[in-house]
Amino acid sequence: MTLQTPNIAVRVVRIEQASPLIKRFTLQAADGGDLPAFGGGSHIIVQIPAASGLLYNAYSLLSSPFRLQQYQIAVRREEASRGGSAFMHEQLAVGDMLQISSPNNLFPLHATSGRQILIAGGIGITPFMSQLEELQANGAAFELHYAFRSREQAAFVDELSARCGAHCHLHDAARGEQCDVAGLLASLDMTDHVYVCGPQSLIEAVQQAGAEQGIPPARLHWEQFAASTQGGEAFTVVLARSGREIRVEAEQSILQAIEQDGSVAVDCLCREGVCGTCEVAIVQGEAEHRDQYLSEEEKAAQKSLLICVSRARASRLVLDL
Ligand code: FES
Repeated sequence: MTLQTPNIAVRVVRIEQASPLIKRFTLQAADGGDLPAFGGGSHIIVQIPAASGLLYNAYSLLSSPFRLQQYQIAVRREEASRGGSAFMHEQLAVGDMLQISSPNNLFPLHATSGRQILIAGGIGITPFMSQLEELQANGAAFELHYAFRSREQAAFVDELSARCGAHCHLHDAARGEQCDVAGLLASLDMTDHVYVCGPQSLIEAVQQAGAEQGIPPARLHWEQFAASTQGGEAFTVVLARSGREIRVEAEQSILQAIEQDGSVAVDCLCREGVCGTCEVAIVQGEAEHRDQYLSEEEKAAQKSLLICVSRARASRLVLDL
């Protein structure tokens, strides 16, 4: 059984241009009822009927966990889109139906008496939108640091500024404003937690500053989007139990190729190489590991791989499926 299979029918009731490259979609249950409850930082899987076939993309929920009549997601138009973001931007219209999964939360807030420091880069602002609702409802101490290339390109700036007031700190690179990650982490108290979502460079800056300052890893939390980890040479995956051969295209993950083939179901949850749900044993061949789940020792052992992000090192990889 595939976990998080999109099985909730929703209708698109509103589409807004949040920035030149980002659209916000508001979805309501087709039956008009409440949608499943979720916590701040949750995501859903959206089934996208792209021209290249069905795609399954994960999107953070932006809307309030306290208003379940609707969900909101934001989609950035990717230049190297396999058709998912292109479909969402150019073909999806108000009134259209979509299938989505129930929410799952791999980036939750952690209860603390201290401050919650949220650091977002670009589209990485999205999981914080629902977390902010929770923090404000709970009267929690928090700071939002939102870094972007330019105000014209960034989404939700005015909305966040109005919502969070002095808790919202904007870092506009076009005006020479950089987020001083090391300085931020140096100001932490013992009970403060830090959350970061955005490009790999921002996540690494937080990880590096945290390590240099001796901040316990349990107080640093990050969410990475999968887009940066996809792509490479095309190769063939062989399903050992049936002998079936499936071509994995250059801009496709093994998981996507297997889903499109449809001959076998696989479990998946995050689709970003962080949860470990899609781990599959390697029967023959070697993987190019791109996940954040397996240890370095496990990666070197070449016994398994996470098929949502990792690829083959050569032209052929035989999997225990
Ligand atoms: S689905 Fe989570 S690691 Fe692959």
